[in-house]
Amino acid sequence: MKPADATDRADVLGLLHRAQRESGRNYIPEERLKEIARETGITESDIYGVVTFYSMFSLQPRGEYIIRVCTSGSCHLMGSGTVLGVLKDTLKIGVGETTSDGKFTLEETSCLGACEESPAMMINEELYGNLTPEKIQEILSTY
Ligand code: FES
Repeated sequence: MKPADATDRADVLGLLHRAQRESGRNYIPEERLKEIARETGITESDIYGVVTFYSMFSLQPRGEYIIRVCTSGSCHLMGSGTVLGVLKDTLKIGVGETTSDGKFTLEETSCLGACEESPAMMINEELYGNLTPEKIQEILSTY
């Protein structure tokens, strides 16, 4: 067994991203986590530690689209609570939940690096800022 150095970590992150993408449900199945441990020689508990450290990874099946609403300082001040409220009402789910059709999962996140566009959210890799209730409805209608 080799120690997890910086290169190993980068490899593991890539493998975990791929595993999550290939699952079709935006999560890392337990069996795949074990395979990655075998492939890399890194212990399962170390890989589990990586998966649970990064909020972008999940061990539970999620929706096709992950909506991450920033609730950090600037976004909080500019109305992330309203953004979450609109999304909850529209999608009929709470934070951490997935719509019954498996399309959307709603999550909170820390700063997305788009404070000048507060309040902001991401849907998968796409960033949306200066959100208003109307704009949120427009955005959702494109998915
Ligand atoms: S505080 Fe929300 S993007 Fe920075």
